[in-house]
Amino acid sequence: MTSKSLVTIERHIIEAERQFPEATGAFSNILYDIAFAAKMIAREVRRAGLADVLGYTGEVNVQGEEVKKLDEYAHEVIFKALDHTGHLCGMASEEVADFIPIPDRFPTGKYCVLFDPLDGSSNIEANVSVGTIFSVHRKVSDHPRGCAQDCLQPGYSQVAAGYVVYGSSTMLVYTTGNGVHGFTLEPSIGEFLLSHPDIRIPSPGQRIFSVNEGNYMKWSSQQRGLVDYLKGLDGTNPKPFSARYIGSLVADFHRNLLYGGMFMYPADDKNPNGKLRLLYEAAPLAMIAEHAGGRASTGTSRIMDIEPRSLHERTPLYIGSADQVEIAERFLAGTPGAGMEAALEPLAAGV
Ligand code: AHG
Ligand code: MN
Ligand code: MN
Repeated sequence: MTSKSLVTIERHIIEAERQFPEATGAFSNILYDIAFAAKMIAREVRRAGLADVLGYTGEVNVQGEEVKKLDEYAHEVIFKALDHTGHLCGMASEEVADFIPIPDRFPTGKYCVLFDPLDGSSNIEANVSVGTIFSVHRKVSDHPRGCAQDCLQPGYSQVAAGYVVYGSSTMLVYTTGNGVHGFTLEPSIGEFLLSHPDIRIPSPGQRIFSVNEGNYMKWSSQQRGLVDYLKGLDGTNPKPFSARYIGSLVADFHRNLLYGGMFMYPADDKNPNGKLRLLYEAAPLAMIAEHAGGRASTGTSRIMDIEPRSLHERTPLYIGSADQVEIAERFLAGTPGAGMEAALEPLAAGV
């Protein structure tokens, strides 16, 4: 066993905290608690084919989608791992319409956590990877016990963001702004061990695009032009991209983070802001992408700069390798030719 394999997530967080002598430990505790919740969810996801947790509950969440039991389970586990610690002034979850206060019987603290408890849950019955996405903000409101304002903050204010992918192994990837680090769950001892220190999106990376092409007919002509280009249909791309689309954002993003590539969920004529949620999906993954050397865009502007107006607002998302996201932005601006050669140079060198 190498010393690298002996770095547990706890040790990693403690060592990072030592660099801030004024730290109270509250923030570190929040990260442990999320890692603990992730282990509980991983255990349940692994048993999904066996347990009574499968199937629809029949209820509809605030996004107008049917909620699966595992979504509810994952939400409850994260909420209960964090509600009593005294470190939070509230939470927000994709599965709940409003700001989630800390129950009156517990003390409150100076952070809030936002999460998508189970991402890609429509895949769960087919044994396909799913995930959890989270972010942490500092309390900013004057409200003594926190309020929605504490969760309605732009991506650049996030103090930490991360995700867990429940795949062939369970991995937790997070950043506090000082590198992106990945930990793999060693199931026999129940510990997350540092397996991917300081992740950088390879540059030049693989030429992969991930998008639901079934929506092609609903896209703008610019978006169609972009995908035609990526596939080599417009005659200007000498090295067409590969297509990979799992339909679980976390899993698609994770692959592109490790190999290079770009995930897109564009606006379309029925959904002017696309499908994905700014606060639970786009902003946390944008923080990871940027700290790994990548880029995250609405197609016209930086995801991290969006000032949210509501907890469940949606945004188009282009995320992954910086040079590839830049190409998308050019197509969407209607100027694919301008400066394209410079952007293409590293891409061409990579394959
Ligand atoms: P969730 O399961 O949290 O509702 O998210 C599902 C999302 C995301 O994971 C994925 O990228 C996207 O939905 C897939 O949407 P399409 O089925 O429209 O491609
Ligand atoms: Mn999701
Ligand atoms: Mn979800």
